[in-house]
Amino acid sequence: MLDQIRETDRKYYMNTFGERLPVCFTEGNGMTMTATDGKVYYDFMAGIAVNVLGHNHPKLTETICNQAKKLIHTSSLYYIESQANLAKMLCENSCCDRAFFANSGAEANEGALKLARKYFYNKGQKKPEVITLENSFHGRTLATVSATGQEKYQKPYAPLVEKFIHVPANDIEAFKKAVTEKTGAVMLEVIQGESGVRPLQKAYLQEIRKICTEKDIVLIFDEVQTGMGRCGTLFAYETVGVEPDIFTLAKALAGGIPIGAILCKEQFAAFTPGDHGTTFGGNPLATSAGICVVNELLGGVLNNAKEMGTYFMNELNLLKEKFPLIREVRGKGLMIGVEFAQPIAKALSKQLFEAGFLVGTVGETVFRLVPPLIITKNEIDLLTAKLTELLTAY
Ligand SMILES: Cc1ncc(COP(=O)(O)O)c(C=O)c1O
Repeated sequence: MLDQIRETDRKYYMNTFGERLPVCFTEGNGMTMTATDGKVYYDFMAGIAVNVLGHNHPKLTETICNQAKKLIHTSSLYYIESQANLAKMLCENSCCDRAFFANSGAEANEGALKLARKYFYNKGQKKPEVITLENSFHGRTLATVSATGQEKYQKPYAPLVEKFIHVPANDIEAFKKAVTEKTGAVMLEVIQGESGVRPLQKAYLQEIRKICTEKDIVLIFDEVQTGMGRCGTLFAYETVGVEPDIFTLAKALAGGIPIGAILCKEQFAAFTPGDHGTTFGGNPLATSAGICVVNELLGGVLNNAKEMGTYFMNELNLLKEKFPLIREVRGKGLMIGVEFAQPIAKALSKQLFEAGFLVGTVGETVFRLVPPLIITKNEIDLLTAKLTELLTAY
Protein backbone atom coordinates (compact mmCIF):
# COMPACT_ATOMS: atom_id res chain seq x y z
CA MET A 1 0.00 0.00 0.00
CA LEU A 2 2.78 2.43 0.95
CA ASP A 3 4.64 1.70 -2.29
CA GLN A 4 1.53 2.55 -4.31
CA ILE A 5 1.05 5.84 -2.42
CA ARG A 6 4.72 6.75 -2.90
CA GLU A 7 4.53 6.00 -6.63
CA THR A 8 1.41 8.15 -7.11
CA ASP A 9 2.97 10.96 -5.08
CA ARG A 10 6.20 10.79 -7.07
CA LYS A 11 4.28 11.03 -10.33
CA TYR A 12 1.71 13.71 -9.55
CA TYR A 13 2.66 15.76 -6.50
CA MET A 14 5.02 18.74 -6.76
CA ASN A 15 7.83 17.77 -4.48
CA THR A 16 8.75 20.63 -2.17
CA PHE A 17 9.47 18.37 0.80
CA GLY A 18 12.44 16.38 -0.49
CA GLU A 19 12.71 12.74 0.53
CA ARG A 20 9.88 12.17 3.01
CA LEU A 21 10.07 9.54 5.72
CA PRO A 22 8.85 6.23 4.26
CA VAL A 23 5.56 6.14 6.14
CA CYS A 24 1.91 7.10 5.67
CA PHE A 25 -0.40 7.31 8.66
CA THR A 26 -3.99 6.17 8.52
CA GLU A 27 -5.19 6.89 12.04
CA GLY A 28 -4.21 8.33 15.35
CA ASN A 29 -5.17 8.07 18.98
CA GLY A 30 -3.85 10.42 21.67
CA MET A 31 -0.04 10.38 21.49
CA THR A 32 0.20 7.71 18.82
CA MET A 33 -0.36 7.28 15.10
CA THR A 34 -0.73 4.04 13.14
CA ALA A 35 0.82 3.55 9.71
CA THR A 36 -0.47 1.64 6.68
CA ASP A 37 1.50 -1.46 7.78
CA GLY A 38 -0.10 -1.35 11.24
CA LYS A 39 3.03 -0.10 13.03
CA VAL A 40 2.34 2.34 15.86
CA TYR A 41 4.49 5.45 16.40
CA TYR A 42 4.74 7.84 19.37
CA ASP A 43 4.27 11.33 18.01
CA PHE A 44 6.67 13.91 19.50
CA MET A 45 6.08 16.33 16.61
CA ALA A 46 2.29 16.80 16.69
CA GLY A 47 2.18 17.72 12.99
CA ILE A 48 4.82 20.39 13.74
CA ALA A 49 3.26 21.87 16.86
CA VAL A 50 -0.31 21.53 15.59
CA ASN A 51 -2.12 18.60 17.29
CA VAL A 52 -2.08 20.05 20.82
CA LEU A 53 -4.90 17.75 21.91
CA GLY A 54 -3.25 14.75 20.29
CA HIS A 55 -5.00 12.60 17.70
CA ASN A 56 -8.68 11.75 17.63
CA HIS A 57 -9.37 13.71 20.81
CA PRO A 58 -12.95 12.75 21.74
CA LYS A 59 -14.23 16.29 22.33
CA LEU A 60 -12.49 17.85 19.32
CA THR A 61 -13.61 15.05 17.01
CA GLU A 62 -17.16 15.34 18.29
CA THR A 63 -17.15 19.13 17.88
CA ILE A 64 -15.89 18.90 14.30
CA CYS A 65 -18.35 16.12 13.35
CA ASN A 66 -21.32 17.91 14.90
CA GLN A 67 -20.41 21.21 13.26
CA ALA A 68 -19.84 19.55 9.87
CA LYS A 69 -23.32 18.07 10.07
CA LYS A 70 -24.76 21.54 10.71
CA LEU A 71 -22.69 24.05 8.69
CA ILE A 72 -19.11 24.11 7.42
CA HIS A 73 -18.96 27.43 5.67
CA THR A 74 -21.15 30.49 5.18
CA SER A 75 -18.76 33.35 4.15
CA SER A 76 -18.26 36.37 6.33
CA LEU A 77 -21.05 38.31 4.59
CA TYR A 78 -23.10 36.99 7.50
CA TYR A 79 -22.50 36.85 11.23
CA ILE A 80 -20.86 33.67 12.50
CA GLU A 81 -21.55 32.82 16.14
CA SER A 82 -18.42 30.69 16.69
CA GLN A 83 -16.24 33.33 14.99
CA ALA A 84 -17.46 36.01 17.40
CA ASN A 85 -17.14 33.69 20.39
CA LEU A 86 -13.61 32.49 19.57
CA ALA A 87 -12.54 36.12 19.08
CA LYS A 88 -14.02 36.91 22.52
CA MET A 89 -12.25 33.97 24.19
CA LEU A 90 -8.88 34.86 22.71
CA CYS A 91 -9.20 38.53 23.64
CA GLU A 92 -10.42 37.77 27.17
CA ASN A 93 -7.47 35.47 27.74
CA SER A 94 -4.75 37.64 26.19
CA CYS A 95 -3.44 41.22 26.27
CA CYS A 96 -5.37 42.05 23.09
CA ASP A 97 -8.81 43.49 22.34
CA ARG A 98 -9.57 42.48 18.75
CA ALA A 99 -9.12 39.38 16.62
CA PHE A 100 -9.31 38.55 12.92
CA PHE A 101 -9.15 35.02 11.52
CA ALA A 102 -7.13 33.71 8.60
CA ASN A 103 -6.27 30.19 7.40
CA SER A 104 -2.57 29.73 8.16
CA GLY A 105 0.42 31.20 9.94
CA ALA A 106 1.81 32.91 6.87
CA GLU A 107 -1.55 34.49 6.12
CA ALA A 108 -1.93 35.70 9.72
CA ASN A 109 1.57 37.24 9.61
CA GLU A 110 0.88 38.82 6.22
CA GLY A 111 -2.28 40.34 7.75
CA ALA A 112 -0.35 41.56 10.81
CA LEU A 113 2.18 43.32 8.56
CA LYS A 114 -0.66 44.92 6.59
CA LEU A 115 -2.31 45.98 9.87
CA ALA A 116 0.88 47.74 10.99
CA ARG A 117 1.11 49.54 7.61
CA LYS A 118 -2.54 50.55 7.85
CA TYR A 119 -2.01 51.91 11.37
CA PHE A 120 0.50 54.44 10.04
CA TYR A 121 -1.54 55.09 6.87
CA ASN A 122 -4.46 56.13 9.09
CA LYS A 123 -2.13 58.53 10.90
CA GLY A 124 -0.80 59.97 7.62
CA GLN A 125 2.73 58.75 8.43
CA LYS A 126 5.17 56.86 6.21
CA LYS A 127 6.99 54.24 8.30
CA PRO A 128 7.42 51.30 5.90
CA GLU A 129 10.50 49.64 7.42
CA VAL A 130 10.09 46.38 9.31
CA ILE A 131 12.83 44.91 11.48
CA THR A 132 12.93 41.12 11.78
CA LEU A 133 15.59 38.73 13.05
CA GLU A 134 18.20 36.58 11.37
CA ASN A 135 17.25 32.88 11.46
CA SER A 136 13.59 33.76 11.94
CA PHE A 137 10.77 32.01 10.12
CA HIS A 138 7.50 33.78 9.35
CA GLY A 139 5.99 31.86 6.42
CA ARG A 140 6.07 31.27 2.68
CA THR A 141 4.06 34.11 1.12
CA LEU A 142 6.15 36.76 -0.61
CA ALA A 143 5.96 39.26 2.28
CA THR A 144 6.53 36.63 4.98
CA VAL A 145 9.41 35.08 3.02
CA SER A 146 10.86 38.60 2.87
CA ALA A 147 10.35 38.91 6.64
CA THR A 148 12.01 35.53 7.23
CA GLY A 149 15.69 35.99 8.02
CA GLN A 150 16.98 32.97 6.10
CA GLU A 151 18.36 33.37 2.59
CA LYS A 152 17.62 29.78 1.58
CA TYR A 153 13.87 30.51 1.63
CA GLN A 154 14.25 33.79 -0.26
CA LYS A 155 16.73 33.22 -3.06
CA PRO A 156 14.45 31.89 -5.84
CA TYR A 157 11.82 34.58 -5.27
CA ALA A 158 13.68 37.83 -5.83
CA PRO A 159 12.74 40.61 -6.02
CA LEU A 160 11.42 40.33 -2.50
CA VAL A 161 9.05 42.73 -0.77
CA GLU A 162 11.14 45.77 0.17
CA LYS A 163 11.98 47.37 3.50
CA PHE A 164 12.60 44.30 5.64
CA ILE A 165 15.75 44.71 7.71
CA HIS A 166 17.22 41.63 9.39
CA VAL A 167 19.31 41.91 12.54
CA PRO A 168 21.01 39.24 14.69
CA ALA A 169 18.87 37.92 17.57
CA ASN A 170 19.64 38.90 21.18
CA ASP A 171 21.92 41.76 20.06
CA ILE A 172 20.28 44.93 21.32
CA GLU A 173 22.97 47.24 19.90
CA ALA A 174 22.41 45.83 16.40
CA PHE A 175 18.69 46.36 16.90
CA LYS A 176 19.14 49.98 18.01
CA LYS A 177 21.38 50.67 14.99
CA ALA A 178 18.71 49.33 12.63
CA VAL A 179 15.96 51.61 14.00
CA THR A 180 15.32 54.74 11.91
CA GLU A 181 12.50 57.29 11.79
CA LYS A 182 11.04 55.09 9.01
CA THR A 183 10.80 51.97 11.21
CA GLY A 184 7.13 51.07 11.52
CA ALA A 185 7.18 47.53 12.88
CA VAL A 186 9.24 44.81 14.48
CA MET A 187 8.24 41.17 13.99
CA LEU A 188 9.76 38.36 16.00
CA GLU A 189 9.23 34.93 17.55
CA VAL A 190 9.66 34.74 21.35
CA ILE A 191 11.34 31.38 20.69
CA GLN A 192 12.64 30.84 17.17
CA GLY A 193 11.21 27.46 16.22
CA GLU A 194 12.25 26.54 12.69
CA SER A 195 15.87 27.52 13.27
CA GLY A 196 16.27 25.14 16.22
CA VAL A 197 14.23 26.26 19.26
CA ARG A 198 16.24 29.38 20.10
CA PRO A 199 14.68 31.51 22.87
CA LEU A 200 15.06 35.29 22.83
CA GLN A 201 16.37 36.74 26.08
CA LYS A 202 13.90 38.39 28.41
CA ALA A 203 16.03 41.55 28.84
CA TYR A 204 16.40 41.84 25.04
CA LEU A 205 12.63 41.64 24.54
CA GLN A 206 12.00 44.11 27.37
CA GLU A 207 14.40 46.61 25.81
CA ILE A 208 12.77 46.19 22.39
CA ARG A 209 9.36 46.79 24.00
CA LYS A 210 10.67 50.00 25.56
CA ILE A 211 12.11 51.29 22.28
CA CYS A 212 8.95 50.41 20.33
CA THR A 213 6.78 52.28 22.85
CA GLU A 214 9.08 55.33 22.85
CA LYS A 215 9.31 55.54 19.05
CA ASP A 216 5.79 54.47 18.10
CA ILE A 217 6.93 51.25 16.43
CA VAL A 218 4.40 48.40 16.25
CA LEU A 219 5.68 45.34 18.09
CA ILE A 220 4.41 42.13 16.45
CA PHE A 221 5.02 38.73 18.02
CA ASP A 222 4.69 35.75 15.72
CA GLU A 223 3.18 33.17 18.09
CA VAL A 224 2.23 30.80 15.27
CA GLN A 225 4.38 28.07 16.81
CA THR A 226 4.82 29.26 20.41
CA GLY A 227 1.14 30.04 21.06
CA MET A 228 -1.76 27.96 22.41
CA GLY A 229 -0.05 26.48 25.45
CA ARG A 230 3.06 25.25 23.68
CA CYS A 231 5.41 27.06 26.08
CA GLY A 232 3.47 26.21 29.26
CA THR A 233 1.43 29.44 29.19
CA LEU A 234 -1.38 30.19 26.76
CA PHE A 235 0.94 32.57 24.86
CA ALA A 236 4.74 32.69 25.01
CA TYR A 237 4.85 36.46 25.63
CA GLU A 238 3.55 35.68 29.14
CA THR A 239 6.79 33.81 29.92
CA VAL A 240 8.87 36.95 29.36
CA GLY A 241 6.42 39.52 30.73
CA VAL A 242 6.43 41.55 27.50
CA GLU A 243 3.17 42.41 25.77
CA PRO A 244 3.13 42.84 21.99
CA ASP A 245 0.86 45.31 20.19
CA ILE A 246 -0.13 42.64 17.69
CA PHE A 247 0.41 38.89 17.77
CA THR A 248 -0.42 36.05 15.44
CA LEU A 249 -1.55 32.46 15.95
CA ALA A 250 -2.17 29.45 13.70
CA LYS A 251 -0.91 25.85 13.94
CA ALA A 252 -2.45 24.64 17.25
CA LEU A 253 -5.36 27.08 17.44
CA ALA A 254 -7.93 24.63 16.05
CA GLY A 255 -6.00 21.45 16.88
CA GLY A 256 -5.40 20.58 13.22
CA ILE A 257 -8.21 22.29 11.32
CA PRO A 258 -6.58 25.08 9.25
CA ILE A 259 -6.89 28.47 10.94
CA GLY A 260 -4.82 31.57 11.62
CA ALA A 261 -5.48 34.61 13.80
CA ILE A 262 -4.31 38.19 14.16
CA LEU A 263 -4.82 39.64 17.63
CA CYS A 264 -4.22 43.31 18.45
CA LYS A 265 -4.72 45.97 21.07
CA GLU A 266 -7.57 48.38 20.38
CA GLN A 267 -5.36 51.29 19.26
CA PHE A 268 -3.79 49.08 16.56
CA ALA A 269 -7.10 47.77 15.21
CA ALA A 270 -6.60 49.90 12.11
CA PHE A 271 -8.53 47.85 9.55
CA THR A 272 -11.80 49.37 8.40
CA PRO A 273 -14.38 47.73 6.09
CA GLY A 274 -12.83 46.69 2.77
CA ASP A 275 -9.20 46.84 3.97
CA HIS A 276 -8.69 43.14 4.40
CA GLY A 277 -10.67 39.95 3.89
CA THR A 278 -10.73 36.21 3.43
CA THR A 279 -13.08 33.60 1.99
CA PHE A 280 -12.46 30.80 4.46
CA GLY A 281 -10.96 32.60 7.43
CA GLY A 282 -12.96 32.18 10.65
CA ASN A 283 -15.55 29.83 9.17
CA PRO A 284 -17.91 27.89 11.47
CA LEU A 285 -15.94 24.63 11.30
CA ALA A 286 -12.52 26.11 12.11
CA THR A 287 -13.74 28.49 14.81
CA SER A 288 -15.86 25.79 16.52
CA ALA A 289 -12.75 23.62 16.64
CA GLY A 290 -10.81 26.61 18.00
CA ILE A 291 -13.35 27.11 20.81
CA CYS A 292 -13.02 23.44 21.74
CA VAL A 293 -9.20 23.71 21.83
CA VAL A 294 -9.26 26.84 24.03
CA ASN A 295 -11.78 25.21 26.40
CA GLU A 296 -9.64 22.09 26.71
CA LEU A 297 -6.47 24.11 27.27
CA LEU A 298 -8.05 26.23 29.98
CA GLY A 299 -9.79 23.18 31.43
CA GLY A 300 -6.53 21.40 32.32
CA VAL A 301 -4.38 20.70 29.25
CA LEU A 302 -2.42 23.92 29.79
CA ASN A 303 -1.51 22.83 33.32
CA ASN A 304 -0.43 19.47 31.96
CA ALA A 305 1.76 21.19 29.34
CA LYS A 306 3.47 23.19 32.07
CA GLU A 307 4.00 20.20 34.33
CA MET A 308 5.10 17.82 31.58
CA GLY A 309 7.34 20.51 30.06
CA THR A 310 9.22 20.81 33.35
CA TYR A 311 9.41 17.01 33.71
CA PHE A 312 10.59 16.47 30.11
CA MET A 313 13.23 19.20 30.37
CA ASN A 314 14.51 17.74 33.67
CA GLU A 315 14.71 14.24 32.23
CA LEU A 316 16.60 15.52 29.17
CA ASN A 317 18.98 17.50 31.39
CA LEU A 318 19.68 14.29 33.33
CA LEU A 319 20.55 12.66 30.00
CA LYS A 320 22.80 15.62 29.24
CA GLU A 321 24.74 14.99 32.46
CA LYS A 322 25.19 11.38 31.46
CA PHE A 323 26.05 11.90 27.79
CA PRO A 324 28.52 14.65 26.79
CA LEU A 325 27.15 14.13 23.26
CA ILE A 326 24.23 16.31 24.36
CA ARG A 327 25.49 19.88 24.34
CA GLU A 328 22.35 21.78 25.34
CA VAL A 329 18.69 21.30 26.22
CA ARG A 330 16.69 24.48 25.66
CA GLY A 331 13.19 25.88 25.19
CA LYS A 332 10.10 26.39 27.32
CA GLY A 333 7.18 24.18 28.22
CA LEU A 334 6.75 21.55 25.53
CA MET A 335 8.78 23.38 22.89
CA ILE A 336 12.15 21.74 23.38
CA GLY A 337 15.41 21.77 21.45
CA VAL A 338 18.20 19.27 22.10
CA GLU A 339 21.54 20.24 20.60
CA PHE A 340 24.18 17.57 20.06
CA ALA A 341 27.91 18.16 20.15
CA GLN A 342 28.32 16.16 16.93
CA PRO A 343 26.28 15.97 13.71
CA ILE A 344 24.24 12.94 14.80
CA ALA A 345 20.70 14.39 14.86
CA LYS A 346 19.59 12.94 11.52
CA ALA A 347 21.04 9.45 12.14
CA LEU A 348 19.64 9.35 15.67
CA SER A 349 16.18 10.48 14.54
CA LYS A 350 16.23 7.71 11.92
CA GLN A 351 16.99 5.14 14.62
CA LEU A 352 14.18 6.57 16.75
CA PHE A 353 11.84 6.42 13.79
CA GLU A 354 12.67 2.76 13.29
CA ALA A 355 11.96 2.21 16.99
CA GLY A 356 8.55 3.92 16.63
CA PHE A 357 9.26 7.50 17.81
CA LEU A 358 8.67 10.59 15.67
CA VAL A 359 10.97 13.54 16.44
CA GLY A 360 12.02 16.53 14.34
CA THR A 361 15.50 17.65 13.36
CA VAL A 362 16.95 21.03 12.50
CA GLY A 363 20.15 20.68 10.51
CA GLU A 364 22.56 17.97 11.60
CA THR A 365 22.83 18.81 15.29
CA VAL A 366 19.42 19.69 16.73
CA PHE A 367 16.30 17.78 17.74
CA ARG A 368 13.02 19.65 17.93
CA LEU A 369 10.41 18.14 20.24
CA VAL A 370 6.90 19.64 20.11
CA PRO A 371 4.58 16.83 21.26
CA PRO A 372 0.84 17.02 21.90
CA LEU A 373 0.18 18.88 25.15
CA ILE A 374 -1.76 15.89 26.49
CA ILE A 375 1.49 13.93 26.81
CA THR A 376 2.05 11.91 30.01
CA LYS A 377 5.17 10.93 31.96
CA ASN A 378 4.89 7.45 30.55
CA GLU A 379 5.50 8.58 26.95
CA ILE A 380 8.30 10.91 28.02
CA ASP A 381 9.93 8.01 29.90
CA LEU A 382 9.61 5.75 26.85
CA LEU A 383 11.44 8.27 24.67
CA THR A 384 14.19 9.05 27.18
CA ALA A 385 14.74 5.31 27.79
CA LYS A 386 15.12 4.71 24.05
CA LEU A 387 17.43 7.73 23.74
CA THR A 388 19.56 6.40 26.61
CA GLU A 389 19.85 3.05 24.86
CA LEU A 390 20.79 4.63 21.52
CA LEU A 391 23.23 7.19 22.93
CA THR A 392 25.01 4.49 24.94
CA ALA A 393 25.91 2.83 21.63
CA TYR A 394 27.46 6.02 20.14
C1 LIG B 1 6.89 30.99 13.72
C2 LIG B 1 6.17 30.60 12.47
N1 LIG B 1 5.54 31.56 11.76
C3 LIG B 1 4.88 31.26 10.64
C4 LIG B 1 4.82 29.98 10.15
C5 LIG B 1 4.06 29.68 8.90
O1 LIG B 1 2.88 29.04 9.20
P1 LIG B 1 2.05 28.28 8.04
O2 LIG B 1 2.88 27.14 7.59
O3 LIG B 1 0.77 27.88 8.71
O4 LIG B 1 1.82 29.28 6.96
C6 LIG B 1 5.46 28.95 10.86
C7 LIG B 1 5.43 27.57 10.35
O5 LIG B 1 6.22 26.73 10.70
C8 LIG B 1 6.16 29.27 12.05
O6 LIG B 1 6.79 28.33 12.76
